Amino acid sequence: MIFRQFEPGDLDSIVDLEKRAFPIGPYTRPMLRKIFNTRGSFNVIAVEGGKVMGYVIALPLDDKSADVESIAVDPDLQRSGLGTTLLKLIEDGMRGHSFQYSVLEVRDRNDEAINFYRKHGYVAITHLPTYYTEVFRGSRGAFRMVKKLRD
Ligand SMILES: CC(C)(COP(=O)(O)OP(=O)(O)OC[C@H]1O[C@@H](n2cnc3c(N)ncnc32)[C@H](O)[C@@H]1OP(=O)(O)O)[C@@H](O)C(=O)NCCC(=O)NCCS
Repeated sequence: MIFRQFEPGDLDSIVDLEKRAFPIGPYTRPMLRKIFNTRGSFNVIAVEGGKVMGYVIALPLDDKSADVESIAVDPDLQRSGLGTTLLKLIEDGMRGHSFQYSVLEVRDRNDEAINFYRKHGYVAITHLPTYYTEVFRGSRGAFRMVKKLRD
């Protein structure tokens, strides 16, 4: 597995992964292109055999905080540590950009991802009942979770 930054030629593979990883409300191709091209964003792509198997992208929120905008691992590879590696790499990137806090929003019924973030030190600070447009497992809500990265 190679870990590197996004290149424009990765977009097709990421769109495919996105559809497979998010049965409800995947980012569309234009949205993904926009996010990856957002000024100040940073990302890590995991590539094997020319195919993107996982990605994570962060956007600055303010001077102190960056947001894990999206993270996804190919369903065939989930629960094998790739998400952990991607999250650690993006947190390292946040520290490198001098951010103190990592922030994210996760669907309040996405127990798998909530477990994942808790395991990595994230704490829910707010519940946002209508954060998403689409309903997932009967809810449109999200938890905002935060992790302190450094003093
Ligand atoms: C969330 C996600 C990125 C985690 O990546 P991953 O490679 O599967 O996770 P890892 O193997 O590194 O970490 C596993 C830990 O996360 C949690 N976890 C991951 N999948 C889980 C599941 N299906 N059920 C319960 N806990 C789960 C557990 O704490 C697990 O630790 P354990 O295996 O020791 O019990 C991945 O499952 C994914 O892409 N999900 C679909 C997209 C998504 O929901 N993204 C988050 C949007 S906010």
